[in-house]
Amino acid sequence: MTVTAPAFVHAFEPATDAARPPLLLLHGTGGDERDLLPLGRLVAPGAALLSPRGTVLENGMPRFFRRLAEGVFDEDDLRARTDDLAAFLRAAMAEHGLAAPVALGFSNGANIAASLLLRHPGLLGGAALLRAMVPFRDPPAARLEGTPVLLLSGASDPIVPAANSARLAALLQGAGARVAHRELPVGHGLSQMDVALARDWLATLQENAR
Ligand code: MLT
Repeated sequence: MTVTAPAFVHAFEPATDAARPPLLLLHGTGGDERDLLPLGRLVAPGAALLSPRGTVLENGMPRFFRRLAEGVFDEDDLRARTDDLAAFLRAAMAEHGLAAPVALGFSNGANIAASLLLRHPGLLGGAALLRAMVPFRDPPAARLEGTPVLLLSGASDPIVPAANSARLAALLQGAGARVAHRELPVGHGLSQMDVALARDWLATLQENAR
C-alpha cells in the first residue's frame, strides 16, 4: 500500500548555505506560499525555504485551520490539519534531504507552528512564533527538552492579549523548550524589530549548532 502525504501547494527554495537549518515558513490568514519567502531570505540567508499554503479558505483567504471566531479555534480541525502538515513536512524532508526545519510562523501560521510543537515534538528543530496564541484550551503534554523557541508578541496586539502570549511562553517552557519571549511595542503586524530579532536568534542557533 502506498501512503501519500497530504497535498499542500507550496514553494521550495533549496539551500545555498548547507550550514543553515531549513526554514518552514507559515503565513498568516490571507497569505500564501509566496508571502514569507522575502522574510525567510532576509532572516536566514542561504537557508532552504519550505513554504506551504494553508488548505482552509475563510471568505477566500487561505488559513492553516478553521476558526469559529477571531481567536476561537475549531480545535478538532486544528488537530487534523496539524497532523496533515506534519505528514507533508516529513515527506518534504525525505524528498529534499532536509534536516529538522525551524518554523517561522506569523499569526495563524505561528499558531499552527505552536500546535506542531505540542502534537509532534521533535519534528521541528525550533520555532520562531510571531504573534502566536495558545492553540488549545487543554494543550497536550509534550516533551520539548531543549527545543529553541522565539516568541515575539505585540504589547498592543488587538488579537493576542498579553496574558495569552505569557501563557504560551510558560506552557512551552514547562514542556522543556528553551523559550526566549520578547514583548515588542507594536500591534499584530510585523515590524523591523521582528526581522532583526528573528535574524539574530537564528544566527545564534546556527552558532550553537557548530
Ligand atoms: C488565528 O485565527 O489563527 C488567529 O486569530 C490569528 C489570525 O489569523 O488572525
